[in-house]
Amino acid sequence: MSATVSWWQTGIIYQLYPRSFQDSNGDGVGDLAGIIARLDYLHSLNIDVLWLSPIYPSPMHDFGYDVADYCAIHPLFGTMADFDRLLAEVHARGMRLLLDLVPNHSSHLHPWFIASRSARDNPQRGWYIWRDPAPGGGPPNNWLSHFGGPAWTFDEGCGQYYMHQFLPQQPELNYRHPEVLPAILDCMRFWLDKGVDGFRVDVIGMLLKDPLFRDEPANPAWNGVREYQSLLHVHTANLPEVHGLIRRMRAFLDRWHDRLMIGELYLPNAELVRYYGDEQGAECHLPFNFQLIRAPWDAALIRRLVDDYEAVLPQHAWPNWVLGNHDQKRLATRVGSRQARVATMLLLTLRGTPTCYYGDEIGMLDVPLPLELMQDPPALRQPEIAHLVGRDPQRTPMQWDASANAGFAAAGVRSWLPLAADCRTRNVANQSVDPHSPLAFFRAMTALRRAEPALAGGSFRSLDAGQPDVFAYLRGDPGSALLVLLNFGAERRRLALPLSGDAADLLLSTAMTSPRRLSLEQLVLAPDEGMVLRLPATSRLSRTVASGGRR
Ligand code: GLC
Repeated sequence: MSATVSWWQTGIIYQLYPRSFQDSNGDGVGDLAGIIARLDYLHSLNIDVLWLSPIYPSPMHDFGYDVADYCAIHPLFGTMADFDRLLAEVHARGMRLLLDLVPNHSSHLHPWFIASRSARDNPQRGWYIWRDPAPGGGPPNNWLSHFGGPAWTFDEGCGQYYMHQFLPQQPELNYRHPEVLPAILDCMRFWLDKGVDGFRVDVIGMLLKDPLFRDEPANPAWNGVREYQSLLHVHTANLPEVHGLIRRMRAFLDRWHDRLMIGELYLPNAELVRYYGDEQGAECHLPFNFQLIRAPWDAALIRRLVDDYEAVLPQHAWPNWVLGNHDQKRLATRVGSRQARVATMLLLTLRGTPTCYYGDEIGMLDVPLPLELMQDPPALRQPEIAHLVGRDPQRTPMQWDASANAGFAAAGVRSWLPLAADCRTRNVANQSVDPHSPLAFFRAMTALRRAEPALAGGSFRSLDAGQPDVFAYLRGDPGSALLVLLNFGAERRRLALPLSGDAADLLLSTAMTSPRRLSLEQLVLAPDEGMVLRLPATSRLSRTVASGGRR
C-alpha cells in the first residue's frame, strides 16, 4: 500500500437511509436528531464513513431522490442547525460524512424546473430536456423510464415533452446547457464549504443522453418482465462524453482538501473502471462495484468475479465492494441468514473499500409487504411486478430493541413503513448482549479489519481450495500473511491447500469460536463457516504472499 493512503481507502462506509434510522420527534419518519442520538452506536461498529441518502427538501415522490432544493434540509429531517450539529458530532468521533448528490434530475417542484416549464422563452428552458412530439404525435422517441412507461411526459402548457428516466416528478437536467453543471457545482460548493467529506453521486453515468435523440434498440435477451429491460440503453446511459463532465465535477471537488466522490454505476468491469478516470483527468475515487450484490451466491463464480475485477483495475485505481443498498434486496434475504456472515467476512477481507447497509449488521431481512402498504413508485406504477421492483422491503425501520416500534419511534407512533415481524427478537439490544450474535460478529470483523493492515491495504491472491463451495485467498503485507477461507455451502469441507508450516492462528471464525491454533495440514470448515487465519512466516503460502500477490 502506498504511503499516501487515505481515510476513504482504509475506512468502512456505512449507508444510512435517514427515513428509517431513528425517529426523534414522533412523526414516524427518521430524522437528523435521531441519527445524532445513535452516533455512539455507529461509532461502536468500527465504521468510518457515514453516507446519508438524500435529506434535502423534496415532495418525496421518490423518497428524497427528487430534490426541490439542493442546499437545504427537509423539515421532516430537521433544520440546518441539526445538520451542522450532526456533521460536528460525526467529526468529533473521528468519522466522516458523505451526502447523496442527485445531479441527473431534480424534483418537478425545483425552482429551476418551475422556471423552465413556465414558458418556451424562459432563460432556464434549456436547463431541462424538452422536445416536440413525434411527427405523428406522441413521445419524441422510444426511451423508457426505469420505473415503467415512457421516459417522456407531455406538458400541456407549452406543448412539448420533457424527459425523465425515473418519475415524471423527476425531470432530467440538461448537461449540454452550459449553465447546468456550474449550477450543480455551486450546490456542491455549499456542502463542501461546510466541511462535508464528499458525495455519493446518484446515477452518475446517466448525466448525458444522445444529442440526436435516437431510438434505443430492442434487447434481444429481454425476458418479458420489466419493460425497461426491453431496450438496450445505449443512448441514455454510459455515453463516452459523460467522462468529460465527471472529470469537471472531480476537478471542482479537488479544490477542497481530501474529499471523496463515489459514483453509482451498474456496469461490467471493463466499463466500470473507466469511471476512475485516466491520464486526461481523475473521475470517481470509487465507482461503486455492485458485483457482490448481483452475482449468484456461488464460491467459484464469486472467485472468478473478484479475480476478473482485480485483473482489470488500472494501477492507480483503488478497489471497492458493496454488499447492500436501499435499491437491492437485503443481504440476509439474498444469501440466507447463515451465509450472511460469510458474505460479511468476504466484504471485509477483500482488497478495497467496503460499503455496508444499515441493519445488515444485525441480519435484518426484507419485510414483505402487501401492495396496499407499498409506497415505492416503481411498485405502484407496475403493480403486476411490484414484488420484484418494490424497494420498501429493504427500507424498513431499524430494529433497536424490544419496545414498541422497536425503539425506532416512540410507542403509539405509526412508523412510515411497518417494522419487521421479528423486531422484538432481532434487534440491537438483544444482539449487544449475545457474544455470538450477528452484531457481535460484525463488530469483531470490523475490529479485525482495523487491527490488521494486511486486510485494509495488503495484497490479494486467490487460491485453489481443492473443494467445491470454498473460496480461499491470501491477504498480505510485508509484516504478515493472512489466509481467508469461506465455505459458501452447507457441507463440512476438509481443505487441500498447498500448505506447509505447523500451525496457523485462527483470528476470527464466523462461528465466533475462540481464537486458537489450527494445524495447517488439517483445515476443516464447518457448514457456512468462514475463517481468517494468520500464517506462520515459515509457511509456503506466507512466502508466496510476501513475494507479491496483486498490488
Ligand atoms: C438511484 C437511487 C434510487 C433512485 C434513483 C433515481 O438509483 O439509488 O434509489 O430511485 O437513483 O434517483
